[in-house]
Amino acid sequence: MKNIIITGGAGFIGSHVVRLFVNKYPDYHIINVDKLTYAGNLANLKDIENKPNYTFVKADICDFETIMGIFKKYKVDGVIHLAAESHVDRSIKDPFTFAQTNVMGTLSMLQAAKLTWESLPEKWEGKRFYHISTDEVYGALEMTDPEGIEPPFTTKASSGKHHLAYGSKFFTEDLKYMPHSPYSASKASSDHFVRAFHDTYGMPTIVTNCSNNYGPYQFPEKLIPLFINNIRHRKPLPVYGKGENVRDWLYVEDHARAIDLIFHKGTIAETYNIGGFNEWKNIDIIKVVINTVDRLLGRKEGEDMNLITYVTDRAGHDMRYAIDSRKLQRELGWEPSLQFEEGIEKTVRWYLDNQEWMDNITSGEYEKYYESMYANR
Ligand code: NAD
Ligand code: DAU
Repeated sequence: MKNIIITGGAGFIGSHVVRLFVNKYPDYHIINVDKLTYAGNLANLKDIENKPNYTFVKADICDFETIMGIFKKYKVDGVIHLAAESHVDRSIKDPFTFAQTNVMGTLSMLQAAKLTWESLPEKWEGKRFYHISTDEVYGALEMTDPEGIEPPFTTKASSGKHHLAYGSKFFTEDLKYMPHSPYSASKASSDHFVRAFHDTYGMPTIVTNCSNNYGPYQFPEKLIPLFINNIRHRKPLPVYGKGENVRDWLYVEDHARAIDLIFHKGTIAETYNIGGFNEWKNIDIIKVVINTVDRLLGRKEGEDMNLITYVTDRAGHDMRYAIDSRKLQRELGWEPSLQFEEGIEKTVRWYLDNQEWMDNITSGEYEKYYESMYANR
């Protein structure tokens, strides 16, 4: 029996990781530690909440005493750490919360693991602290006309009609960190603490840096679920700047599969980048989302293009992210399983079929918050 803490398991990616582990490993005990901030939602885990190998603990990762208590009570062997403040726009408005949760919260998890594991006769043997991070720590890549640039690699994710690289450089694991937003600066800092715990104390750690995820259960402040919901209700679609920024998109279940593989087979102290070589300009992805929502709702395809509204750009908006995930493919044999157009279709269908999930979030307090985000941009 392995006792594994997954932090942030009630959030978007965390809920997919919890579901995968609970279903795939009946011999593991999965302890989901989540504070249930605005982004945490136990409705994301309805289908597994009564499984015998699953326990939910409502706790703040910054509360060191409580976290120590959880380590002792459950004899924890491994940690998969996802809990974080994750939205760049919020970090611009409120950087303190990001430093607190992402830096101090990670430190609290590390220190609790260290004190617990160091005191055992077997010490680090069979233990693992796996930290989930982002490609945003590397900063932004230059952008060029994709004409004539051959992407270095194709994957199932990028095997559709749109297969472009908007520059010749990619984020590799050896790149210097150059974070720009308070969010990415806080994640970069947490990555450094994780590596410091390996280098200083010998803790068995792993860090991965992943590109933009999309799929079911994503909080509708992020581009894709926000726009699906706005199109459905025929509300404006706020496109930042010219909509030219490029992101590299990966279906969330493919990220969860990579986490499973790396947790079990990854080499201690290594970093792995996770992504599908699937770059899209925001405006192009928005058009695909509009066409898909319109078609699935029985509207004329493209009828809602007039909802596109160009708004003031995000401060410090990173131009391009593009992950080079060849190390993970080469060393552990991971590959995205889903082609992007299939993934978008599946995602839009899920949000349209789960309006109640969406309405529970977007009614009430959230609506007021969302409006205030735009009121003083
Ligand atoms: P999310 O915002 O959807 O979920 C975060 C979860 O963490 C929520 O359930 C929230 O309640 C919980 N949480 C926040 N503060 C907490 C605290 N102090 N104590 C305990 N729990 C707390 O985030 P996400 O998009 O699922 O991202 C998960 C992780 O993956 C983050 O570390 C993020 O940096 C990283 N990541 C995200 C993406 C992406 O595209 N979403 C890509 C790469 C990496
Ligand atoms: O790259 C990984 C990161 O991806 C994760 O670490 C973050 O947790 C996750 O939130 C995501 O960050 P982004 O800032 O890239 O995601 P977001 O969905 O906020 O925005 C995607 C792009 O769309 C970005 O260029 C900003 C733009 N955008 C976003 C919103 C919400 C708009 O144009 N309009 C919008 O309303």
